[in-house]
Amino acid sequence: MEVRVENGGSYEVGKSGWGKSLPVPSIQEIMRSDSQLVPQRYIHENKDWPIISEDLADSLEIPVIDFSFLAKGDEDEVQKLHLACKDWGFFQVINHGVKEEILDKMKAAVAAFFELPFQEKKKYAKAENEIEGYGQNFVVSEHQKLDWSDMIYLFTLPSQNRNFKFWPLSLPGFKEALEEYSREMQKIAEELQANFSVLMGLKRDGLKRLQGGELKQGIRMNYYPICSRPDLVLGISPHSDGTSFTLLLQDDDVTGLQIKHNEDWVPVKPIPNSLVVNIGDATEIQSNGMYKSIEHRAVTNEKKPRISIATFMFPDDEQEIGPVETMIDDQNHPKLYRNIKYVDYVREKFSRKMEGKAHTQFAKLRTTTNH
Ligand code: OGA
Ligand code: NI
Repeated sequence: MEVRVENGGSYEVGKSGWGKSLPVPSIQEIMRSDSQLVPQRYIHENKDWPIISEDLADSLEIPVIDFSFLAKGDEDEVQKLHLACKDWGFFQVINHGVKEEILDKMKAAVAAFFELPFQEKKKYAKAENEIEGYGQNFVVSEHQKLDWSDMIYLFTLPSQNRNFKFWPLSLPGFKEALEEYSREMQKIAEELQANFSVLMGLKRDGLKRLQGGELKQGIRMNYYPICSRPDLVLGISPHSDGTSFTLLLQDDDVTGLQIKHNEDWVPVKPIPNSLVVNIGDATEIQSNGMYKSIEHRAVTNEKKPRISIATFMFPDDEQEIGPVETMIDDQNHPKLYRNIKYVDYVREKFSRKMEGKAHTQFAKLRTTTNH
């Protein structure tokens, strides 16, 4: 059975130049042929097994931010946002104003894509020297453990960054759904970015200026097939996002995302129609560590496949990212990260497997053991 996703051919140096990843099988396709199989390459080391205590799962919830208050400039909500970013690095956003219909269309478009026959999906396969398209990323060695998911990653904004050769344009409604969804995410992202700016002691447009204008955007659509042994595999390995921040839309009825909080893994129970937001590495760096990009992972289950849609917001490639002046104080808050061109940071991230926060050492001024 031929299940390799990537075409393995070379695609003239990818437009992004962010990196590459080795070709891997489609786990969805493997499961279509034998849903009981758990290939050795997907079984993680004992120490990584996805175990969490039931008590914790029931008792802890990530903060909830009411976007309508934030957009009105409500001071209490801004404070809540500050604490959510500082203490959790993750929060769920409700009342964001995006019509349910737009979210539903987006989810349906992604579900329809993954339901396509494999031969059809392969038309949008990543080239080996690119990170965009259908396949998987962060695979740098044939010996590395693989994650129990397939994905399609597309650059969405600015619109000139769109490479339509990777877009499933023959799928009715996909392009429209993604474009509309992308616009809505951008609006939310701009408001969040303005709030982060103010919380870092800048003007509302401070971070926008420091990031080289409008935030850039890419959307990663993940498909997690069911697994007969969810105790042995990971849907996505622990990592932090190399973004400014990320907006995640997930299925309402399947829990899979878990975040690291005080050394425990805390599941994020979806609030219907909400978005999960997490701080990415670029914001951790710019805030000089006040806000942390938190490690997260996804687990699988035996009953229902899960789909999630991660909208990554990031600075311009050529922009230099570093702790902003207002967040540095030589006495109490010395500079923890060096200034670094964003594209260099991203290339470092894509040249490694997902391994918690190991890649963030690249930007740290002093090497610490705190991954
Ligand atoms: C990601 C991610 C989590 C999820 O795509 O970066 O962390 O729940 N996804 O799918
Ligand atoms: Ni992530």
